[in-house]
Amino acid sequence: MCGITGYIGSRDAYPIVIKGLQRLEYRGYDSAGVLLYDGSNAQVYKTKGKVADLQAVVPDLQQKGTICIGHTRWATHGVPNDVNSHPHVSNSGDLAIVHNGIIENYDTIKAELTQRGYTFKSDTDTEVLVNLIEEVQKVNQCKLGKAVQLALNEVIGAYAIAVFDQKKPDELVVAKLGSPLAIGIGENNSEFFVASDASPFIEYTKNAVYLDDEELAIIKVGRDIRIRKIHDDSQVSPEVQALQLNLSQIEKEGFDHFMLKEIYEQPKAIKDTYRGRLLPNEGIIRMAGVEEYIERFKSADRIIIIACGTSWHAGLVAEYLFEEIARIPVEVEYASEFRYRNPIITEKDVVIAISQSGETADSLAAIKMAKAQGAYVFGVCNVVGSSIARESHSGAYTHAGPEIGVASTKAFTTQITLLTLIALKLGKEKGNLANSDFHAHLQNMELIPSKVEKILKQDAAIKEIASEFLETPSCLYLGRGYNFPVALEGALKLKEISYIHAEGYPAAEMKHGPIALIEDGYPVIVIAINKGHYEKVVSNIQEIKSRKGKIIAVVTEGDVTVKEMADHVIEIPEVEEALSPLLTTIPLQLLSYHVAVARGCNVDQPRNLAKSVTVE
Ligand code: M6R
Repeated sequence: MCGITGYIGSRDAYPIVIKGLQRLEYRGYDSAGVLLYDGSNAQVYKTKGKVADLQAVVPDLQQKGTICIGHTRWATHGVPNDVNSHPHVSNSGDLAIVHNGIIENYDTIKAELTQRGYTFKSDTDTEVLVNLIEEVQKVNQCKLGKAVQLALNEVIGAYAIAVFDQKKPDELVVAKLGSPLAIGIGENNSEFFVASDASPFIEYTKNAVYLDDEELAIIKVGRDIRIRKIHDDSQVSPEVQALQLNLSQIEKEGFDHFMLKEIYEQPKAIKDTYRGRLLPNEGIIRMAGVEEYIERFKSADRIIIIACGTSWHAGLVAEYLFEEIARIPVEVEYASEFRYRNPIITEKDVVIAISQSGETADSLAAIKMAKAQGAYVFGVCNVVGSSIARESHSGAYTHAGPEIGVASTKAFTTQITLLTLIALKLGKEKGNLANSDFHAHLQNMELIPSKVEKILKQDAAIKEIASEFLETPSCLYLGRGYNFPVALEGALKLKEISYIHAEGYPAAEMKHGPIALIEDGYPVIVIAINKGHYEKVVSNIQEIKSRKGKIIAVVTEGDVTVKEMADHVIEIPEVEEALSPLLTTIPLQLLSYHVAVARGCNVDQPRNLAKSVTVE
């Protein structure tokens, strides 16, 4: 999972591509590289490290030319070093490629190419691909587009690629299977932009074509994009879309980090998720994607939720929601396990796939498998036009806006918002929810954004609490019921951005093992709101206290009991239990953020991680 971008037109290509790479860095930041063509020569510059490191190695005098392709890498094949960085160049030196994805059969192809005399500098699958294209071109004496197409028919795997041929330096060939690829179109086809998402080119054009899987495009200035299907060479008419994205959505706008900006965006993001869907005055929830398949939902034997990471935690919250409100049995599955364990799937199953990026490889593969076995698939995605959104029978977007911080924040709360709407709608449709309860839920839901605002006002106090954790090697997060998944999510946030080990547990499970960890000063974060099994959580807190653990509790405003026992409390406004994860999550996000910042960690780009995991 890497980011690729490119430009062909009449402007200086280098600054456009460098800025584009910076915007795509969330996709991987192990290494970066560019190929620049100045009208007569092509030069490749690449280095281990971030885009800023790359800028330092490209000489000022070389930063010219109107064609450039670039790459920011999350290493899969080969360690992150200069040689394994992209672009990769073919043996003749004519072809260069940037690639996001994995070529699974690269070993076999490499062996064949080696027999034919090809040599390889790097350990990457991508260098094999560019040489395969070269060999195909040589054998068939064909143009670049044809050679790319024929070569791609020989590979197994996933890719979004951009290929440049020095012998024909007026075009770029791009292709996609499994990894995203957008093409920005300048006025009258005077210039083109290529990128893993539209962020690198939004200030230049609002017109974009998103390639579908198995499509290859030949991009040449002054004429329409030519798109063909890779497997059968059939022609495809480009479908030009108007981009909704704007520049402010992808800039920090005064915040120190994207993560903090995104935490603060949650009141608006939650509103954007329910806007036009939650209609308390009319007493309805409107969701076209659910309505279209309402009989499938109502007659479902069970709902299977498929997701990874934070999205999986949102799925766990949905399990409580759907079972309680809609009375439909739910199973929540890690996509990576589900797809490999021969699960029993029937036509009576509804599969809900949750994914911020809509590109997570395991989730995508899992829904394809479920579809093939007759299940109806509903996608909950943030990124519009993403692979999972397109692969689903129907679905709903969270409309959270771009999430750039690698640690998910607003994705989580907006996914829960959307899933709550679905649960309420189904509860009503199935007659499990009295009218008065339904209306009360709708009204309570509308109050959530202002309650989140109120919690955000405690940021400074939470920062103060965070300062006590900077040296701890480990932490425990506890919650019950709806707030058990929030405990898991709190622990994930802390470990992924601060590198402090953290575990989330159902509070009642503590005595079955994790209690052994607790000693003098050991930090335990407990969600102890006044709903659900409050008294039982209070007992757990007593157990921690008697072992001298340090307690940070998230409580309901006005709580007295826990306040007396805890070392620190963070208050959230009164809220019904089913909606409480939307509030209890916020202080845990802020806590992790401040711990990580104070420890000097790069919160937006934590080590070894990337935003969308488009490989297994
Ligand atoms: O794009 P997705 O929601 O499918 O991504 C799933 C996970 O990779 C993602 O939630 C990951 O766990 C984040 N780093 C969590 O903050």
